[in-house]
Amino acid sequence: MTSKATNQELQQRKNAATPRGVGVMCDFYAERASNAELWDVEGRRFIDFAAGIAVLNTGHRHPKLLDAMRAQLDKFTHTAYQIVPYASYVELAERINAVTPGNYPKKTAFFSTGAEAVENAIKIARAYTGRPGVIAFGGAFHGRTMMGMALTGKVAPYKLGFGPFPGEVFHAPFPSALHGITTEQALDAVKALFKNDIEAKRVAAIILEPVQGEGGFYAAPADFMRGLRAICDEHGILLIADEVQSGYGRTGKLFAMEHYDVLPDLITMAKSLAGGMPLSAVNGRAEIMDAPAPGGLGGTYAGNPLAVASALAVLEVMEEEKLPARGQRLGDKLQEHLNEWRSAVPQIAEVRGVGAMVAVEFADPATGKPDAEYTKKVQQHALNNGLLLLTCGSYGNVIRFLFPLTIPDTVMDEALGILAKAIKLA
Ligand SMILES: Cc1ncc(COP(=O)(O)O)c(C=O)c1O
Repeated sequence: MTSKATNQELQQRKNAATPRGVGVMCDFYAERASNAELWDVEGRRFIDFAAGIAVLNTGHRHPKLLDAMRAQLDKFTHTAYQIVPYASYVELAERINAVTPGNYPKKTAFFSTGAEAVENAIKIARAYTGRPGVIAFGGAFHGRTMMGMALTGKVAPYKLGFGPFPGEVFHAPFPSALHGITTEQALDAVKALFKNDIEAKRVAAIILEPVQGEGGFYAAPADFMRGLRAICDEHGILLIADEVQSGYGRTGKLFAMEHYDVLPDLITMAKSLAGGMPLSAVNGRAEIMDAPAPGGLGGTYAGNPLAVASALAVLEVMEEEKLPARGQRLGDKLQEHLNEWRSAVPQIAEVRGVGAMVAVEFADPATGKPDAEYTKKVQQHALNNGLLLLTCGSYGNVIRFLFPLTIPDTVMDEALGILAKAIKLA
């Protein structure tokens, strides 16, 4: 019935029926989607470089995922794993334990959303260390739950009006050469927290995104990651890598932490883990994962059978289609184009990326100040011409590219054509 309504009619009904707090970027409504393309209810086609906010690394409706879910639909859709367990949950945990970095006994627990994975990683870290404190970073995004908001390093719009937040959470600046914060300064700021705010032996965990997502696609420099690992080792603090956005093939490897020569104690993952089904996970050293008492972890829907079936298929597709490597090639090609356009577009302040996790940052050429207005214009120009792009960054002046890693070359080339015009003409 809804598919017969026009975009405008749906927009009016949406405004009357749903709160503005659920901010919605597009004013058109999805009808169907396939791989990297999406059609609205009026038949307009879009190339989808948003991918459900980094959820569709395997594209919309990958046939293997659909087959796996159909097969599961015919068996059962829900038992609540904590009541009646099923083999697929265990199998997925085994597979994730095998593919995550670190050659030691590991365990994995499943949840439904990225924020829930983050919440549970903190719970596990506190249970294991017996300590309350958590250190996170400026520009970080860790979700919309109370602890997720406390850890998030961006006030508007995520924290506005929602406090007080859970205590014992502290922030240090995230290093960014472009914004003049060196690795040394960022590490010193963490150490300063031990002087000014909380003694190191009361800190349970340091949590960071190896490549900040919402914050602007800034990769943690290798020496920063090494420095954090050293601080953690010195003080018995756990290092948590929030790979909700950077994981699952986006950076040219299955996990962004594979780019570093140090290991995290816990990894959170979600988004592309189940290719469009709500599933998240916390993975880590077995002895740490076993710290919470039985009943302390879980949730009614946590590890839903359909989502788990889809996630098992995602891992197969990642391997069979060599998607991390394909993402690397596509990301390199995109960076090449963006760099070529720099001479014609002085607003491009930086092109950066790890694998397919590519971003372009815009600044006013006269002042060097972040240029959110220009960024919006590029986004709107692309949208008007059928390419869906997402912005990010503390100043809203970054465009991030989240195309499915399965995108056909012809569609990628078409998107690059639209992007070239949008960036040059905006
Ligand atoms: C790094 C990171 N952590 C946590 C979250 C929260 O995930 P969710 O929106 O599924 O709760 C996100 C979502 O964008 C994220 O990028």
